[in-house]
Amino acid sequence: MSVPDLSIQIGTLKLRNPIMLASGTVGYGNEISEFTDLNKLGAIVTKSLSLKPRKGNPPQRITETPAGMLNAIGLTNIGVEAFLKEKIPFLKKFDVPLICNIAASTMEEYVECTKILTHEEEIDAFEINVSCPNVSEGGLIFGNDASAVGRITEKVRAHTSKPVIIKLSPNVSYISSFAKSAKENGADAVSAINTLVGTSFNIFTRKPKIQNITGGLSGPAIKPVALAKVLEISRKVDIPIIGIGGIMDWKDVIEFMIVGSSAVQIGTLNFIDPSAPGKIMAQLEDYCSKAGISKISSLTASYDLK
Ligand SMILES: Cc1cc2nc3c(=O)[nH]c(=O)nc-3n(C[C@H](O)[C@H](O)[C@H](O)COP(=O)(O)O)c2cc1C
Repeated sequence: MSVPDLSIQIGTLKLRNPIMLASGTVGYGNEISEFTDLNKLGAIVTKSLSLKPRKGNPPQRITETPAGMLNAIGLTNIGVEAFLKEKIPFLKKFDVPLICNIAASTMEEYVECTKILTHEEEIDAFEINVSCPNVSEGGLIFGNDASAVGRITEKVRAHTSKPVIIKLSPNVSYISSFAKSAKENGADAVSAINTLVGTSFNIFTRKPKIQNITGGLSGPAIKPVALAKVLEISRKVDIPIIGIGGIMDWKDVIEFMIVGSSAVQIGTLNFIDPSAPGKIMAQLEDYCSKAGISKISSLTASYDLK
């Protein structure tokens, strides 16, 4: 059998395979480049960028949990101007689609960031973070309100011709209504899921293990929740979905595609084994060859619920 076709199309965004690196887990691509060949990836998603630099929350900002981690980084980032000046020159050396993730505290800030970044030809698409659980303004306040998600989508859409992906929160009852609002207001795709709100206490000090008290839960613990959210969107809304949540190996990627994902993002795994995304790509090709799948995209929403 000939080599399987791993390519994926999301709107006008063409990826050589469905593997992306999730926002906040690889810095601006630089933190992983010596472990995984960036040129072989489907895409890189940057750490969330805001208009001005953000220091984020005070430490302790991360703790391990059974089968996952809690983080309350609080969107630490260098801001859009420094990103363009300091990080784009490094990213220009690679031939990999670059997706800029944007976070903001106000509607105007989302628009300003988009207006500044859209002129940079190195940037191929935007992922709009309306779902960060670890900041007091913006974040989940927007992510919990479907009409606010619609308004942000509409405003960002009006200021860029590049693909717009809306990153959804799992901390809602019906995620599909948020995906519907994003689609109706011009989004090309949605990504799901961001982290789930969680907490953890030290029983001896009776204090929270992270300074922010609550944080975002990620890792294998959230995979079944993420799969159910992707499935819900896939059954209710006709929009490409990028599946995220607890992906640890190539089998998890296939599972996310079966329930409706066109592509996936790998997050927490990058902290355990930063060379894993490269290995997973090779294993996906092997699986497709052995299973007689000529196009990996045929797996998307291939579930049989009967
Ligand atoms: C340390 C850390 C930082 C993160 N920072 C961001 C961020 O800046 N913006 C964002 O949209 N998501 C952020 N995320 C969420 C991830 O992109 C991803 O949605 C989530 O971790 C679930 O995937 P995983 O279980 O594979 O890690 C962060 C996650 C972690 C663990």
